[in-house]
Amino acid sequence: MAKIKILVGTVYGGARDVADGIKPVLEQKGYQVDITEDPALSDLTDPDNTAILISVSTTGSGDFPPGFDKFYFSLNDQGASLGHLKYGVIALGDSSYDTTFCEAGRKIDNILAEYGATRVGRRLDIDSAEHFDAIEPAISWIEDWTTRLV
Ligand SMILES: Cc1cc2nc3c(=O)[nH]c(=O)nc-3n(C[C@H](O)[C@H](O)[C@H](O)COP(=O)(O)O)c2cc1C
Repeated sequence: MAKIKILVGTVYGGARDVADGIKPVLEQKGYQVDITEDPALSDLTDPDNTAILISVSTTGSGDFPPGFDKFYFSLNDQGASLGHLKYGVIALGDSSYDTTFCEAGRKIDNILAEYGATRVGRRLDIDSAEHFDAIEPAISWIEDWTTRLV
């Protein structure tokens, strides 16, 4: 069965809520879905994963949430050959942070592409100044994302 792993980076739980909210939509479309808040490089190279989804918020001043930073920096330090990998990124942020808006999502998007992975569709940047509930834009985005995942 086609499998999607969702890698979550969150401080206050919003990015986890997004992962939990899109999981049933993906399951309805026939995917098996796993969610982790402790992502590892092996998630990127596991041949069982048809694709990976990142759901990550930005904290500090353009920083990754704790736990997710470890994952990013091990990818940055060790590198990986990701030519096989398809991925999507949902980035949570707040536009009042201006230049660092959704920076964590941008950084993980850029490094995955740098190591050869292919992003499916556009990155979804969710602005908490605009959306009280991040799940709503994520649900309509995931519908589109899955149609491109073929
Ligand atoms: C201390 C703090 C720092 C933040 N820094 C940024 C930032 O640099 N860029 C950004 O886009 N959003 C920033 N945010 C907004 C969060 O990313 C946003 O509220 C997000 O929805 C939180 O998601 P979470 O519940 O998964 O942690 C910050 C929020 C807090 C409380």
